[in-house]
Amino acid sequence: MATAEGAATPPLSPWRRLRSPSLAARLALVTAAVLAVALGMVSAVRTVALRQRLYASTALQMGVDYSTLAKGLRLSPLAVALDGQGYASFLASPTVGALVADATGSVQGEAPPTSPQYASLFPPVLPRREYLSALAEGRDVSLVAGRGAQRQLVVLAPYLNPFTGAPVAVFELATPVAPLEGTLRQQLEFDLLAGLLALMGAAAAIYVLLGRFLAPLADMARASDEIAAGRLDVALPQPRGDDEVARLSRAFSHMVQRIEVALERERAEQRRVRAFLADASHSLRTPLTVLNGRLDLLLRGESREGEELEAALRALRVEGERMARIVRGLLLLARLDEDEPRDAGDVDLARVLEALRPRLESLAGERRLVLAAPEGLTAWATVEAVETIVTNLVENAVRHTPEDGQVEVRADLVDGRVRLRVLDTGTGIAPGDLPRIFDRFYRGARAGQRRDGGAGLGLSIVQRWAQALGGEVAAANRGERPGAVFTVWLPKGPPPASSDPRPSRAPG
Ligand SMILES: Nc1ncnc2c1ncn2[C@@H]1O[C@H](COP(=O)(O)OP(=O)(O)OP(=O)(O)O)[C@@H](O)[C@H]1O
Ligand SMILES: [Mg+2]
Repeated sequence: MATAEGAATPPLSPWRRLRSPSLAARLALVTAAVLAVALGMVSAVRTVALRQRLYASTALQMGVDYSTLAKGLRLSPLAVALDGQGYASFLASPTVGALVADATGSVQGEAPPTSPQYASLFPPVLPRREYLSALAEGRDVSLVAGRGAQRQLVVLAPYLNPFTGAPVAVFELATPVAPLEGTLRQQLEFDLLAGLLALMGAAAAIYVLLGRFLAPLADMARASDEIAAGRLDVALPQPRGDDEVARLSRAFSHMVQRIEVALERERAEQRRVRAFLADASHSLRTPLTVLNGRLDLLLRGESREGEELEAALRALRVEGERMARIVRGLLLLARLDEDEPRDAGDVDLARVLEALRPRLESLAGERRLVLAAPEGLTAWATVEAVETIVTNLVENAVRHTPEDGQVEVRADLVDGRVRLRVLDTGTGIAPGDLPRIFDRFYRGARAGQRRDGGAGLGLSIVQRWAQALGGEVAAANRGERPGAVFTVWLPKGPPPASSDPRPSRAPG
């Protein structure tokens, strides 16, 4: 397992952090940008509307002021021609300049605003047709004329003969737009400043709040780094609530736990395979050493004749048989580990035991052998499984039971399950061995010293078969008398279709 600390993602440098900001920072920035565009648009529309209103109200005010003054005037075309300049000066005020044109549109007099600040700002002389069209309309007309600093808001007020309605003169009142634009600019600057402050406040608030909401994501990112570095025991703070982030965080923790369990299982499996390989090669090495030793003796010319040769060959045969047994056992175990028996069905136990009788009797030798199964009792198994289980258990029983002892194989039905027992009157199982006798290659402490002992695979095979069929096996000493009893439980019928037919693998 990789536990290199260095494999973890290093913490970001300030520069990198700036170049790849956190999700909260990005969202805050994007929100601020969107808000800025929206505020800009609102402010632009507001400024345009405000300018229109300001110009309109100023023009209206100029018109009102003019008509107040003009009420007292009794004008005739002659008076205009003679004293146009006087009327212009009369109408000028501190911020408003005035110009007088006669009924033909010719300028008869002009005066700048009376305030010294605007003394040079005469009202713009408009094209003649402007004056004529104002006279033709017969009411005030406002417009903007001039360029740059000379730009002025102009109101054209026609003066008609009060009795005949004949055009007499046009008064042009003009005020510089600079003060109006100044007011507008101030308003815009205030808008921008307030908007900027609001934006900064909103961005900061979003950043802080999002940072809090997204904290579990940051925890997950950190945990992922640690997991990538091989540390799976990372503890994630569990957020409360049931929003998407909380659910994601919980799912993430759950996933990490499952990965941890799976990895631990994988490691155990690897340990098991390694131990299995070591045991397998070790148990094959012993007979191979014996075999090679004997062959060396023969090659050197010793025991080449008569009974000695015969004894040597027999010994070789025994070792060969032992190796063949080990390889058979390993192959069987590998096959059972690989896939479950698919051809299970009802197996008549009495019939299988009867068929096995000759082989079991030859194994038992002088020992009394009892085979007992009720007529017609069936277990959900395969014939091969029952034969292998019974043969292995009887072989063990015989090996640990004196010649005048007894070995029994009994089958019966208990609580709806088939119980298959092998009882002997032998040495019994050493209490220290009991927990381990089903381990692969485990041979009892006493058996270990004996040359006639097996490889320690028999009981593992019995257990695997029982598990593969959905059953189990247990070992015990008989208690009331010397001897051991092995109990194999087998199902009476097929497993329920819904449940997973694969039993859990036994470790070791
Ligand atoms: N009937 C029994 N009485 C006492 N001890 C037993 C009995 N059956 C098994 N054992 C103990 O359990 C150990 C494991 O048995 P197992 O059948 O797995 O291996 P084995 O008989 O030594 O070798 P193999 O079966 O591969 O030839 C034995 O070595 C023995 O110590
Ligand atoms: Mg055995």
